Amino acid sequence: MELVPANAVPRVTPDRLANLLDFYGSNKASKHDYQFPLSFAFNVAPAGALVEFGIAASSTHGPEDGPIGPDEYIGASLRAAADLGRFTNVIGADHDPRFLIRSEHFTSIRVDQYDIESLRVCMQQADAMSPSGIAVVIDDGAHTHDSILNTVVVAFPHLKKGGVMIVEDLDRSTLQTVLSEVLRVANPCKWGLWSNLDQGPNNNVLVIGKID
Ligand SMILES: C[S@@+](CC[C@H](N)C(=O)[O-])C[C@H]1O[C@@H](n2cnc3c(N)ncnc32)[C@H](O)[C@@H]1O
Repeated sequence: MELVPANAVPRVTPDRLANLLDFYGSNKASKHDYQFPLSFAFNVAPAGALVEFGIAASSTHGPEDGPIGPDEYIGASLRAAADLGRFTNVIGADHDPRFLIRSEHFTSIRVDQYDIESLRVCMQQADAMSPSGIAVVIDDGAHTHDSILNTVVVAFPHLKKGGVMIVEDLDRSTLQTVLSEVLRVANPCKWGLWSNLDQGPNNNVLVIGKID
């Protein structure tokens, strides 16, 4: 196990993360309370890059829905992650070209989570951009059974030792199936499930730690 000095990377408190997520317009804290599993995962991860699938907090679902509206925030959670000062670099991946912007906070890569080859190319690009390795991967993209499984299959092996993968918004109805399939492909790992069903049936977050 690689030992990272305790003072090498700043610790993340749930309050600080929630404030940043609210500030930039992500609903991860205000709607889901995800500042708790996320800050835990960020603190146990080694130093390195963060890659998040799903760039925009958007009420439109594709370019065919028209221009980006005033309630849509591109890169909100990525900007919050960058401001933590915890990651060497922050990368967002999305299938919607409207969200692949240049920003001082993060780099954008195009990906379609339903297309394994596109995921492979995306993770190779993310690796090439991250000389210290990839410490955290978050799946906050399409949120379906197939997209989650594809993303874990391709992205998990790219995590550095001790790195953490986070799968957000797992629905209660499909939780058992997704969980057993995800854990079969993300092996060996340690994992935990965080649930707050008071806020809806899909308020489940899976945190998977990579052992080797
Ligand atoms: C819940 S939003 C992400 C919110 C953002 N992480 C935040 O909190 O600020 C979901 C995102 O997933 C993207 N997405 C949906 N389907 C996708 C797919 N098949 N491949 C890649 N990204 C996808 C959408 O374009 C959208 O930007």
